[in-house]
Amino acid sequence: MKKIILFVMISVFVLPLQAQSKATNTSPRIIILATGGTIAGSGESATKAAYTAGKVPIDDLLNAVPQIHAYGKISGEQIAQIGSQDMNIVTWLKLSKRINEIFKNNEADAIVVTHGTDTQEETAYFLDLTVVSDKPVVLVGAMRPSTAMSQDGNRNLLDAVMVAASPKSQGKGVIVAMDEKIYDARDVTKTSTTNLETFQSRNFGPIGLIYDGKVNYYYQSVRNPSKKFDITKLSSLPQVEIVYGYADASPNPVYCMINSGPKGIVYAGMGNGNFGEPVGKALAEAAKKGILVCRSGRAGSGRITLENEVKDAELGFVVADDLNPQKARVLLMLSLTETSDRTKIQENFFEY
Ligand code: SIN
Repeated sequence: MKKIILFVMISVFVLPLQAQSKATNTSPRIIILATGGTIAGSGESATKAAYTAGKVPIDDLLNAVPQIHAYGKISGEQIAQIGSQDMNIVTWLKLSKRINEIFKNNEADAIVVTHGTDTQEETAYFLDLTVVSDKPVVLVGAMRPSTAMSQDGNRNLLDAVMVAASPKSQGKGVIVAMDEKIYDARDVTKTSTTNLETFQSRNFGPIGLIYDGKVNYYYQSVRNPSKKFDITKLSSLPQVEIVYGYADASPNPVYCMINSGPKGIVYAGMGNGNFGEPVGKALAEAAKKGILVCRSGRAGSGRITLENEVKDAELGFVVADDLNPQKARVLLMLSLTETSDRTKIQENFFEY
C-alpha cells in the first residue's frame, strides 16, 4: 500500500515538477488558446464512442500533460468551448484578433490553438490569411475524447507545443500538428470521420514530421503571401454559400441561394468543377446578378482549371484552383471584404 502511495505521489507531484523545471528564462513563451472540440471532449466510458465535445476546460487540458512545460513557458486562455461544428465567423474574428494582439504586444513567442477536427482546416486557413506574424501558430485536435482509452489528445498537444517551440517553425504560416505530422493550413483537410490519421494534404503531403521529441520539416508552401487580409474593423464577413454538384442535380438550391442575397456562391462541382446544364444556367444567372460564383470540386484533390471545360469568362465565374469548397469559401469571403472585381478575386485564388 505504501509503495502505491509513494508511486502516486511521485507521478503526480515530482515528475510534473521535473518536466516543468526544464523551462528556462530563454524558453519560448507559448500561449495555448482553447476553443473546445474532441481534444476537450468527455465521455462516460473509456471504451465507448459516445462523448460530448468541448467539455474539459483549458487548465485541466494543460494539467493532463505536464511534459509541455519542458518546452516553454506555457499559459492558457479559453476562447470558446464548443464542438467545431459550431465554429462560426464571430469566433474566427475573435481568435484572429486575439492572436494578432498577442504578437503585437509581444505577449508570446508562439501560439497553439486547440480545436475540434471537424472544421479545423477552415479555421487554420482563416488564421493563415489574417494573422500578421512570422511567429508560429499551431492548431491541434484529437479524434478520441480526453476520457477515452488510448486517447490521442495528450500526445498531440505535447507535439503541438514542441512544434510551436521549435525555431524551425518560424515563417511557415499557420500549421496543423496532428498524429506526428505537420501540415500547411492551406492544404490540410479532414479525410475520415473516425480514423486517428484523419488529416491529410491530398495534393502535397505533410510538410514535416514530429517523432521522438524532434521536429523536422521537409517542404514549405510558397502560397503564403506576406499581405494578409485586414480584419481589425470587421465584425462579420460577406455571406458566401456552398452548393454541391451531383448527377442530375436540380437548380433549385442555387435559386434558393440567389433569393437569400449572398455575395458569393462556391460550387462544389463534379470532376473539374463541372455542372449539368440546369445548374450551369442557374449559376450563370447568379453571376449576372453580381454574385461572385467560384467553381470548386468535390473530388477531394487536384485543381479546377480555368477556361478548359467551362467558358468561365463568358459565364462570369472564377475557379478555386486546388482549394476545396470549404476553403474556397473562406478565401472568397475575405476577398469580398476588399473587392467584388472578378479578375482581382481570380488573382487571389492563384496567389493565396
Ligand atoms: C469537433 O470538431 O469539435 C468534434 C470532432 C473532433 O474534434 O474530432
